[in-house]
Amino acid sequence: MGELDQAFVQAPEHRPTAKTSGSFSDGEIPIIDLSLFRNLEGANANANANANAIASAIGEACERWGFFQVINHGVASETRRRLEDTAAEFFGMETAEKRKVKRDEVNPMGYHDEEHTKNVRDWKEVFDFFLQDPTVVPASPSPEETGERMLTNQWPKNPPGFREACQEYAREVEKLAFKLLGLISISLGLPGDRLTSYFKEQTSFLRLNHYPPCPCPELALGVGRHKDGGALTILAQDNVGGLQVSRRSDGQWIPIKPIPDALIINIGNCMQVWTNDKYWSAEHRVVVNPTKERYSMPFFFFPGSKVDVKPLEELLSGQSPPSYKEYNWGKFFVSRNRSDFKKLEADNIQIDHFRVSPPA
Ligand code: OGA
Ligand code: NI
Repeated sequence: MGELDQAFVQAPEHRPTAKTSGSFSDGEIPIIDLSLFRNLEGANANANANANAIASAIGEACERWGFFQVINHGVASETRRRLEDTAAEFFGMETAEKRKVKRDEVNPMGYHDEEHTKNVRDWKEVFDFFLQDPTVVPASPSPEETGERMLTNQWPKNPPGFREACQEYAREVEKLAFKLLGLISISLGLPGDRLTSYFKEQTSFLRLNHYPPCPCPELALGVGRHKDGGALTILAQDNVGGLQVSRRSDGQWIPIKPIPDALIINIGNCMQVWTNDKYWSAEHRVVVNPTKERYSMPFFFFPGSKVDVKPLEELLSGQSPPSYKEYNWGKFFVSRNRSDFKKLEADNIQIDHFRVSPPA
């Protein structure tokens, strides 16, 4: 990492005391300050240099971890707080009340408490809503069948202001997602808008997670180990902690420290495929807490249904042939929702299904 880039990566305050097998700075995911980029947006002569420096810090984090935290990211803390409060009110209602907006086999949006990761029940309840209402997806996961379906959000009547709080936060976090997408493109030596068109009819959604205290924390996980399927995820977590990432260099589980107002960014499978394995979609999981409940709010930045995901031509060469076959995002999205809903024995479709060659 160059000297200039160092300026944007803050040293974590609390170093882990246990020795890890990696180098010292491999003990925690990087924290990247986006304030310079924000202040210098527009036609400022320094804007480019700053964008490049932040982009290279992000690029390094995407390669080494697939995870980083951002501060001074532009999402207002009042907007976040308002959604955190209303989410707690929603999950505090009677189950029967929450189930009035329960998801079903066709519409994955709404409330549910039966999510499964790798066939094991996760210790949590969730509420999901799409950014685009309606969101267009294929009617069937089968490649032979054509036809589309419009999915709409389900909004509860209570608590009052719930929908507004959700939508206000979603608008802000979406802006950040496009900024990060641009910085990631720049970090790859590509134009800042290289990936933008894939999100024209995005299938992104926001999730509110509530993890109740778990009496047998050694027997359950809030979310079992998994990778996120989309382009990137922007996660707000409260101060309880429990999220862990598998370090790329050795697979060790590393806790992600809660930092007030920071947002956690992680690379999803689409980005790993687009970059032909340069950037890493890391496995992560959530351990449960015996006494404290925990809330988190991931935004899953997903491309449009019609997008065919494959390694970007510009990043390929004779020495770097494509590691993945092309796949259609809409079909993938629909088939994953089905297998989730039916709790299929089979593992949810994972990135390696599209791999051409075994990982190096
Ligand atoms: C997820 C996820 C982490 C968290 O929902 O995909 O990884 O901290 N959540 O809730
Ligand atoms: Ni995840």
